[in-house]
Amino acid sequence: MTKVLIATDKPFAAVAVNGIREVVEGAGYELALLEKYTEKQQLLDAVADADAIIIRSDLVDAQVMDAAKQLKIIMRAGAGYDNVDTEAATQRNICVMNTPGQNANAVAELVFGMLVYGVRNFFNGTSGIELKGKKLGILAYGNIGRNVARIAKGFDMDMYAYDAFCPAEVIEKDGVKAVSSTAELFSTCQIVSLHIPATAETKNSINFELMNSMPKGAIVINTARKEVMDEDGLQQTLEARPDFKYITDIKPVIDAELKEKYADRYFATPKKMGAQTAEANINAGITAARQIVDFIQNGNQQFRVNK
Ligand code: 3PG
Repeated sequence: MTKVLIATDKPFAAVAVNGIREVVEGAGYELALLEKYTEKQQLLDAVADADAIIIRSDLVDAQVMDAAKQLKIIMRAGAGYDNVDTEAATQRNICVMNTPGQNANAVAELVFGMLVYGVRNFFNGTSGIELKGKKLGILAYGNIGRNVARIAKGFDMDMYAYDAFCPAEVIEKDGVKAVSSTAELFSTCQIVSLHIPATAETKNSINFELMNSMPKGAIVINTARKEVMDEDGLQQTLEARPDFKYITDIKPVIDAELKEKYADRYFATPKKMGAQTAEANINAGITAARQIVDFIQNGNQQFRVNK
């Protein structure tokens, strides 16, 4: 019998697991569940007889693939797939897919939850500022960036975006000004929200030069990946600019140090929260299950991300 394993260190909401179960068992497959695992060995054991796995930010490297002798598809229920060794998957003839857009609204809503928290000085009782009329820079205009723009409109923000792959007309159609570089976005906008994936090109790309060029009262909010931030540059900016705040949903390596030194200008969620809503879990989880069934039954590879 075809076996689908959900392997999630950070579990989906129970309602989403039920939905996945319905799709998987409805197709006549078996569903196995490995949640909150603490050792890699648990994952290696669980994948041994799986034909398909549904993961979130769980690391799937060559060792995991080699332990999964029957594995045909790795399904990332979410957008970013930097946690999967896609080359190793290609070499082993394993398909890797994601579910783009399915958790985008959840992440975009969190951006504003965290932004309000940030501009109101982390609710410490002192006088903060409002988002209305402020220049918001959206770095990368994909599914999340577009949702951020949709919500920012309600706050009456002045929106800018840069995306190396999205035509300016598409951005401007949403009432967002398209700028021509990341540097222009940072030097123009008081608030910049990061929505770039972690790739060889973007890793450590948010550096001191960019952040230091931002207007007074600058805020960078990161709900993307910790790897895109140059942490030395971040520390340098916090040091050089007493008006600069960093708000993130992905703890940097230097979290403890920043917390100690810049408690009034630095905030990180204890665990990545962006996609942690019942709706996002249902959307991404059930879509993942459907894509697996469609792949196994019909060979549909529409959302394949590896070669
Ligand atoms: C994504 O890439 O989809 C988001 O970062 C959410 O990741 P998560 O599923 O680990 O919460």
